[in-house]
Amino acid sequence: MRNTVLHFPDGFRWGAATAAHQIEGNNYANDWWPREWAEGTSIVEPSGDACDSFHRYREDMQCLVDAGLDTYRFSIEWSRIEPEEGFVSKAGVAHYRRMVETALELGITPMVTLMHFTVPRWFADEGMWRSPKAADRFARFTELALPILGDDVEWVCTINEPNIAAMIAGGEDPANLVAYGLPAPDLHVADTLLESHHRAREILAGVGGIRSGWTVATQDFQPEPGCEDVAHEYGHQRDDWYLEAARGDDWVGVQAYTRTIIGPDGPRPVPEGVETTLTGWEYYPLALEHGVRSAWEKTQGVPVFVTENGIATADDARRVDYTEAALAGLHAAIADGVRVEGYLHWSLLDNYEWASGYRPTFGLIEVDKDTFERRPKPSLGWLGSVARANGLTPRA
Ligand code: BGC
Repeated sequence: MRNTVLHFPDGFRWGAATAAHQIEGNNYANDWWPREWAEGTSIVEPSGDACDSFHRYREDMQCLVDAGLDTYRFSIEWSRIEPEEGFVSKAGVAHYRRMVETALELGITPMVTLMHFTVPRWFADEGMWRSPKAADRFARFTELALPILGDDVEWVCTINEPNIAAMIAGGEDPANLVAYGLPAPDLHVADTLLESHHRAREILAGVGGIRSGWTVATQDFQPEPGCEDVAHEYGHQRDDWYLEAARGDDWVGVQAYTRTIIGPDGPRPVPEGVETTLTGWEYYPLALEHGVRSAWEKTQGVPVFVTENGIATADDARRVDYTEAALAGLHAAIADGVRVEGYLHWSLLDNYEWASGYRPTFGLIEVDKDTFERRPKPSLGWLGSVARANGLTPRA
């Protein structure tokens, strides 16, 4: 008997995502770098050279396109555009414009993220998202990014995971961002991030042809029986509020990895014996379908783009299992009428996983830490074959 093929809509985009600080290397001018080197830091290791993608971005994109993928999400490192307050690096702007041009030359659709967690040190010193100047600063940076976007970048993400950014700004040590239980967000920071998003969207709308949105970490909070109210209260300020705030946007990004069970006292740890990944998160591929359905419902019908989904594992075959199950769930949501524009896997490369360092490997491509040689894993070829067919043939 032949297996059924799950077809994706015509024009569906397939690709992978990265973020500047996690792959470029040597981002000394941002707020993360000094924290990585601070005495007594709980960050397990510094980012250092990362994947040296600042120089090797063409090779990264070549691997992506050779596999059969067509879309690459990457971010602009704000601290390379404005390393000091009052100084704009023309070379920095030119670098990212070259990245856009390289993508287009290779036939790749670029999706550009303006801010993926890291900010210039001077902005952090000024109070970061708590500073009264924050939204103005971000608006100015958005203006500075316009020559990078030119008139040929369609997809722009203003702010990556504002919900996680607001939780980190809650004052909690990022090393405590574990598999369950996220710190309470700073609600003032959440408002400032939303204002910054709106300011950026207005500026981008003036260009024409740009579709902008923000990307939310959907966390699939699942109540135990009788805990629906606790789950609502816990989840709304960490997740749903950001989806509701995206109503009226051109699209909304869903970034899904795992679920969190909510008991009477809040989040539960992953039970003994349940499979977990290298980040300690529960292996739970259905998180994608749930995240996408929730985004569609909470935004009241804003088109969804899966801007991150993946698994930290040293077992690449397990990455394929996870992604296959996640894509089957995504397909079910699409079949029920949810409009989804594309799927971008996190991540293209084994990169710097923030406070956890290099151990949790999310990549479709392994990177040699000494030579920076890129070694595509079987999962890259597998995802590329799904992309070429624009369809998934589940193995079981
Ligand atoms: C972030 C990435 C991160 C990934 C895996 C998302 O929260 O946008 O920067 O590496 O999840 O933890």
